[in-house]
Amino acid sequence: MEAIVAVYSDWGIGSGGTQPVVLKADRAHFRQVTEGAAVIVGRRTLEDFPGGRPLKGRHNIVVTRQNIKIEGAQVVHSTGEALAAAAVHPRCLVIGGASVYKQFFPHLDCIYATKIDFIPHSDSFFPNLDRAPDWRCEEQGPWQEENGLRYCFCTYRRVS
Ligand SMILES: NC(=O)c1ccc[n+]([C@@H]2O[C@H](COP(=O)([O-])OP(=O)(O)OC[C@H]3O[C@@H](n4cnc5c(N)ncnc54)[C@H](OP(=O)(O)O)[C@@H]3O)[C@@H](O)[C@H]2O)c1
Repeated sequence: MEAIVAVYSDWGIGSGGTQPVVLKADRAHFRQVTEGAAVIVGRRTLEDFPGGRPLKGRHNIVVTRQNIKIEGAQVVHSTGEALAAAAVHPRCLVIGGASVYKQFFPHLDCIYATKIDFIPHSDSFFPNLDRAPDWRCEEQGPWQEENGLRYCFCTYRRVS
């Protein structure tokens, strides 16, 4: 299973339920990578999407402990249920947030990480893959710039 995440230089990923710094280029990259795939998303992160609605063009698997229905999404109530729901799709990406990345981490073998060369305040973090012995940065794109912020697209793979 794969994941996609945007990380700041301290591997922070968000604060107060949202991403303090978002790049247009990263939004486009996210759309391109996840298009047509299934995505596993936590209920809190879903709330931060435009209009709090599931993403179009993707099969949204929303994880929540609540007994709720979400139009345009498949609601599941545990990681096991999410994995079973994902298994029928040729491709599934975990798209956050922090608690969901953490719980699905053992199932990941590929992570698309956008590195943003900036450190806003974060209260949610992703594991530092550059310090993880069982992960390797297989591909790193060139550093680019948007509104004075440097960023690059990296692909990490589990090596053991
Ligand atoms: N930088 C990035 O690429 C990126 C991407 C996504 C999110 N984020 C950031 O991540 C932060 C949000 O992360 P978060 O950890 O607070 O929230 P989250 O992981 O998005 O959602 C947490 C919610 O998911 C549900 N949940 C989690 N594990 C579950 C399980 N095992 N079984 C059933 N339901 C489960 C619960 O929903 P209920 O409360 O409804 O039961 C829980 O409250 C935000 O700051 C956001 O901006 C960053």
